[in-house]
Amino acid sequence: MAGRLRAVIFGRQGAGKGTQSARLSAHYGAPHISTGDMLRAAVSEGTEFGRKADEYMRGGNLVPDDVMIGVVRERLAKPDAVEGGFLLDGFPRTLGQSEALLDITGDDGIDVVIDLDVPLDVVTARMKGRGRADDTDEAIARRLELYEKETGPVLAWFERRGKLVTVDGVGTEEEVFARLSAAVDRRLGQR
Ligand code: AP5
Ligand code: MG
Repeated sequence: MAGRLRAVIFGRQGAGKGTQSARLSAHYGAPHISTGDMLRAAVSEGTEFGRKADEYMRGGNLVPDDVMIGVVRERLAKPDAVEGGFLLDGFPRTLGQSEALLDITGDDGIDVVIDLDVPLDVVTARMKGRGRADDTDEAIARRLELYEKETGPVLAWFERRGKLVTVDGVGTEEEVFARLSAAVDRRLGQR
């Protein structure tokens, strides 16, 4: 194993965060923690929390910060993350979530923050083939809008902290994975 990895992966909807996180997780042995997947699991279990989350997700809106921060705080406290690190996908999405994350991990608790960069026209074409419950035209447009508005400043925030690495996300899954793992290895080598 290449050493414990603590990473965050950004990218607009359809950039391939989930696809590549699964590969990175297998390669580095760090658990893939996707807040979107966790919320969808709660929806399919039909819990009260899941019913509320479903409303936000169907509209392409963000679940409130205090709820999401609690969910991630609990998840990162589990032994697999404490021991194996983490690959966060879909969190943080707002400045409030970012500050909470650094509060949880500590200032030196993140090795690398990746911006998986895929242009709008390419992600739009990818979304068409997927068919998730929130892949309606309205929700897709709302998610893209919120990504620029809420998550754009988060990327700038991590860049100022010297953590951000931009990786080109256009190409085959294998090509993108090769770029990502090279970028991560460079960062881990500097640690
Ligand atoms: P979330 O599940 O995080 O959705 P998202 O950010 O919109 O991103 P996606 O999962 O749609 O895209 P992805 O980048 O993972 O791409 P994928 O690998 O699937 O969030 C959903 C909702 O949950 C939010 O709207 C919000 O309501 C709520 N939520 C979640 N986290 C939250 C938070 N922190 N705070 C508040 N609310 C939160 O790939 C997409 C498609 O492209 C797939 O079909 C895939 O097969 C294909 N593909 C992947 N790579 C390639 C490639 N290289 N070439 C061709 N096709 C490819
Ligand atoms: Mg995803």
